[in-house]
Amino acid sequence: MDFFSVIIVNFVLAMSNKINLVAFILGAGTNVGAAVAAKLNKEGYRVALGGRNPKPRREDSPYFDVQVDVSKKESIFAAFDTVVKKLGPVNVVVYNAASVAVPSVEGEILSIPVESYEQEAAIGINTFTAAQKALESFRSEVHRHNPKTFIVTGNILPFSHHTIPKWYTLGIQKALESRLVATAANTYQAENIQFYFATLVSKDGGIPGDFYESGPAHAEAYWRLINHEKQEDWNQQFTSDGQKYPRA
Ligand SMILES: NC(=O)c1ccc[n+]([C@@H]2O[C@H](COP(=O)([O-])OP(=O)(O)OC[C@H]3O[C@@H](n4cnc5c(N)ncnc54)[C@H](OP(=O)(O)O)[C@@H]3O)[C@@H](O)[C@H]2O)c1
Repeated sequence: MDFFSVIIVNFVLAMSNKINLVAFILGAGTNVGAAVAAKLNKEGYRVALGGRNPKPRREDSPYFDVQVDVSKKESIFAAFDTVVKKLGPVNVVVYNAASVAVPSVEGEILSIPVESYEQEAAIGINTFTAAQKALESFRSEVHRHNPKTFIVTGNILPFSHHTIPKWYTLGIQKALESRLVATAANTYQAENIQFYFATLVSKDGGIPGDFYESGPAHAEAYWRLINHEKQEDWNQQFTSDGQKYPRA
């Protein structure tokens, strides 16, 4: 093959890969999920939105809604299988779902019913389930030249062993999630499969006051992470302008 044929073949291959770009957002609500989905759709991704109660959408919606309860591993298995069947193997996964069980006696973590504790911890545990399903897709031949990125929406709770009691179960979720991401980020570097624990922080690195308007900042930060050429620090923090924290 001559030089120009090689260029044309590579161009066609790059274009055909582009139509295979598929993202799955687990826990896609009106803030982070909606903004990240809009950004990915604009960039040529087909996007599956996962939640416990997907709303009916118009026929011409660019999104594919799938029912998933991330506290149940069977539900995650089924949701990934549905997404892959409908859209093809995924190359970007965003694990955004979270919830919290507050103690029934204020300030006393041990007043949380064990069943509630288990249910909340399962959301953290099942990041592993989702990552395992994502890996099957990431290793698909169609994504050989595509980004392959698993992002967990984080917070700063796992960076301290102490959590205020009302956020205890949320801290458990994020601790499990950050530990998985940190280890997987090392493990899969050779395949250029990237894992990030992505946290919006305030200007001085604390809890952000403006989280519920933070969709656009997440969209910008996550798009940057998806396009990293290689794995960078698993712990990625950013401020409300979407820029990395701390600044380089
Ligand atoms: N950086 C920080 O300090 C900070 C502050 C606040 C939040 N956060 C993080 O941001 C994320 C949420 O952000 P957001 O603003 O996008 O929230 P959001 O708009 O409420 O979206 C979260 C979605 O998750 C879904 N969800 C909840 N439990 C689920 C489950 N068991 N299975 C499947 N889906 C579930 C909910 O939908 P359904 O109820 O319909 O299932 C909801 O729509 C969480 O990871 C949270 O920890 C970080």
